[in-house]
Amino acid sequence: MQKILITGVAGFVGSNLLQKLLNSNYQVIGLDNLSQGNIRNLEPHKSNSSFEFVEGDIRDASLIDELVQKVDAVVHLAAFKIPRYGNAMDTLKINTHGTKNIFESGSKYKRKVVFTSTSDVYGKNPNLPFSEESDLFIGQTSIKRWSYAVSKLYDEHLAYSYMEEFNAPIAIIRYFGGYGPNQNLTWWGGPQSVFIEKAIKNEPLTIHGDGSQTRSFTFVEDMVEGTFLVLESDKANGEVWNIGNEREITIKELGEMIWNFVHPGTEPKVELISYRSFSGHYEDVMRRVPDLTKSKERLGYRVTTQLEEGLPQTVRWQRQFY
Ligand SMILES: NC(=O)c1ccc[n+]([C@@H]2O[C@H](COP(=O)([O-])OP(=O)(O)OC[C@H]3O[C@@H](n4cnc5c(N)ncnc54)[C@H](O)[C@@H]3O)[C@@H](O)[C@H]2O)c1
Repeated sequence: MQKILITGVAGFVGSNLLQKLLNSNYQVIGLDNLSQGNIRNLEPHKSNSSFEFVEGDIRDASLIDELVQKVDAVVHLAAFKIPRYGNAMDTLKINTHGTKNIFESGSKYKRKVVFTSTSDVYGKNPNLPFSEESDLFIGQTSIKRWSYAVSKLYDEHLAYSYMEEFNAPIAIIRYFGGYGPNQNLTWWGGPQSVFIEKAIKNEPLTIHGDGSQTRSFTFVEDMVEGTFLVLESDKANGEVWNIGNEREITIKELGEMIWNFVHPGTEPKVELISYRSFSGHYEDVMRRVPDLTKSKERLGYRVTTQLEEGLPQTVRWQRQFY
C-alpha cells in the first residue's frame, strides 16, 4: 500500500484528491496551513485511520523533510494564486520557497513529486489551443497578476533543474480552470464560485471586463482523475501534462448558464466590473483552451463531465452556505 503526501489538502483539488486516494486504498498524509483551504473539507475523513492531517507550512523546510521521508510520493498542490485583490509577495514567496523545499526533500529521498502548475503560464499566447510545447507569453513585470504565472514558471524550471542535477522523479501538471464541490467560495475559487453565490442571492453577476474573455472549465472529478493518472504512471515523470477540458466558453456565457440553472427562464442580472478598478494595472488573458492530445494518447486521460452536468452539482453543493 502506498502512502502519499498531499500538500494543500484542505483546498479544492486537495480535498477531492484525498477522497479519490482513500477510495483507492492509499494512505495519505495531508498538509495545509489553512490559509485558504477549509478544515470542513476534511471533515468526512477525520476519523479515517488511513488519513493523517498535519497543520503546517510548506515554507518550513524541516517539516517538509520529515513528511517527505515518510511517504512514497508527493502531490504538491499548496500555493497562492493570482493576486487579483491581494499582493504579489505571498504568491511569489509561498510558490517558490515552498516548492523548492518539496523538490529538495523529494530528490534527497528519491520520492516522486507531482507538481501542479497552471494554464496561466501560457499567458497571452494568441495561438490556440495550448499544447505542452506551446510558447509561454508573459506580460510586463509591473502588472502583478503575472507574478502567479511567473512563480509557477520558475517552479517548472526548478523541477527540470532538479531532474537534470539529481535525476529527481518529477511530473508537472498544468490545470485549466477547475470548478466543483469544495471550491473556494470567493474569487480565489474562480468566477463560477462568485457567480453561483450572486445568482443564489438574486444579486447581479459581477463580470470582470465585458465578459468576452474565454476559459475552459474542468470539473474537479476530471482534474482528480488526471492527477491520479500522472501520479500512478512512471512514464509521466520528466514531462508536462495539460489537464483540462477543451470546451471554450466566454465568461459572460458561463454567468448566463449559472443564472439559468438558478432562475430558469429569467434574464440574468449583470454588473460589469472595469479592470481599472483593480489596484495597479490589471491585464486579463482573453482566450484559454487546452490541447489535450498528449494526456489523452499517452496517459489515457478522458474528460467525463461537461458544464451542463458539473455546474448543477456545484450549485447544489454551494447552496448549503447561504
Ligand atoms: N483550481 C484551479 O482551477 C487551478 C488551476 C490551475 C492551477 N491550479 C493549481 O492547483 C493547485 C491546487 O489549487 P486549488 O484550486 O486546490 O487551490 P486552493 O487554494 O483551494 O488550495 C490550496 C491549499 O494550499 C494551502 N496553502 C496555501 N499556502 C500554503 C502554505 N504556505 N503552506 C501550506 N498550505 C498552504 C491553502 O490553505 C489551500 O488549502 C495550486 O497549486 C494551484 O496553483 C489550480
